[in-house]
Amino acid sequence: MENRKLAILTSGGDAPGMNAAIRAATLLGLSRGLPVVGVRQGYLGLMEADFVPLTRTDVLGIVRDGGTVLGSARSLAFMKPEGRAVARRQMAENGITDLVVIGGNGSLTGALALTEASELGEQTLRVAGIPASIDNDVGLSSLSIGVDTAMNTIVECCDKIADTASAHGRTFIVEVMGRDCGYLAMSSGVAAGADLVLFPEAGRDEAQVVEAVVETVLAARRRAEPRKRVLILKAEGVKVTPERLKVAVDERLAALGQRGELVETRIAVLGHIVRGGRPSAFDRVLAGRLGFVAVHALLAGETRVMAAFAQASAPPSGARVAPSDPHCWLVELPVVLAETRRLLDGTSPLVKWRNRVFSEIEDVLNPKGA
Ligand code: F6P
Repeated sequence: MENRKLAILTSGGDAPGMNAAIRAATLLGLSRGLPVVGVRQGYLGLMEADFVPLTRTDVLGIVRDGGTVLGSARSLAFMKPEGRAVARRQMAENGITDLVVIGGNGSLTGALALTEASELGEQTLRVAGIPASIDNDVGLSSLSIGVDTAMNTIVECCDKIADTASAHGRTFIVEVMGRDCGYLAMSSGVAAGADLVLFPEAGRDEAQVVEAVVETVLAARRRAEPRKRVLILKAEGVKVTPERLKVAVDERLAALGQRGELVETRIAVLGHIVRGGRPSAFDRVLAGRLGFVAVHALLAGETRVMAAFAQASAPPSGARVAPSDPHCWLVELPVVLAETRRLLDGTSPLVKWRNRVFSEIEDVLNPKGA
C-alpha cells in the first residue's frame, strides 16, 4: 500500500497472548504490502523512535511465548501533551501512518489521546486498539487477551493449594492480581471451587470482609465434612492485605472459641506468577482474531477504534460487528473508555449483574445455614 507504514506496540502490564496479536497484525500488514515495525517498550519507545522492522520470520514462532517480544513500559512522560507531541513527531519522521496498540485501559487511553484532533494537526494517523490485560477491566470486550491464561494459572495454583489445605483441614486465603477489577478472582473462584470470593465491586469494608471469611469458615465447620479445606480467593483490589486479614480472622475465630488445627488460616499471594507463562490456546486464537480485526479496520481507513471479542448481546451504540469477523466488534475508543470507567466505579450494569450473581452463588456454594 502506497505511503503507509504500520507500527505495533504493547504497553502497560504484559499479558500472555500479546505476542500472538503482534504476529497476526504483522502477518496481515505484510500480506497487504505494508512495511511493519515494532515499537520497543511501548509509548516510551514511541517517544524515543525505538523502532524495529518486523518480518514474517521475526513473528512466526512467537505465538507460544508469554510476555511480549516488543517489551512494555508504563510511561509518565507520554501522559503529558508534550510527550505525545514528541511521539507523533517521531512517527511522522519515520513515515508511520497506522498504529496498533495492544494493552489495557491505560494503553487505550494513550491511543485515543494520540489521535486527538487538537494535538494531531495536519498529520494523518490511524490508531486501532486491542484489549490485552489479565485484569479484564476493558469496557465492551467480554474477554481481554491474557485473562484465560491467567485464570488457568490461578486454577492450577489453587488445585495445588487445595491438596495441602485438605490434608490439614486448613483455610487458605489466596490473593490474585486485578488492580481495580475483581473479574479474575471471581471467574477463577468459580473454576477452582472456592468457598468465597472477595472482590472490590462488592463494596465490603474491612470489618465486613473479615466477617465474610469468618462466616465462611464457621459454615464449613458446621457441615462437618472431614478435613474440610476452605478456599477463599481475594482480589488484589480488596484493600486489606492478606497478612492483616489472616490476623483479624484468626482473632475473631479465637474470640468465638474456634481454636485448634481445623481453623488454621494460611495465605498465598500469587502476584506476578499469574501474568506469566505460555498463552493458552484460547488466548492465542483470541489474540490472532483481534490482531486481524484491528489491522483490517486500519486497512479500511478506520481509526480510534478497538477490536473486541463480542459480548453476548447486540452491540451498543458506538460499537458494530466487525466486517472481518462476526464474533468481534469494532468499538469507538471513547465509548470503550467511558464504559471502562463505569466498570471501575461500579455503575456499569455488567458490574451490578456480577454482584447480583455472586451474592446468589455464594449462598448456594457455601450455605450459611447448613
Ligand atoms: O494491570 C495489570 C496488573 O497485573 C494488575 O493486576 C496489577 O495490579 C499491576 O498490573 C501490577 O503492575 P506492575 O507489574 O507494574 O507491578
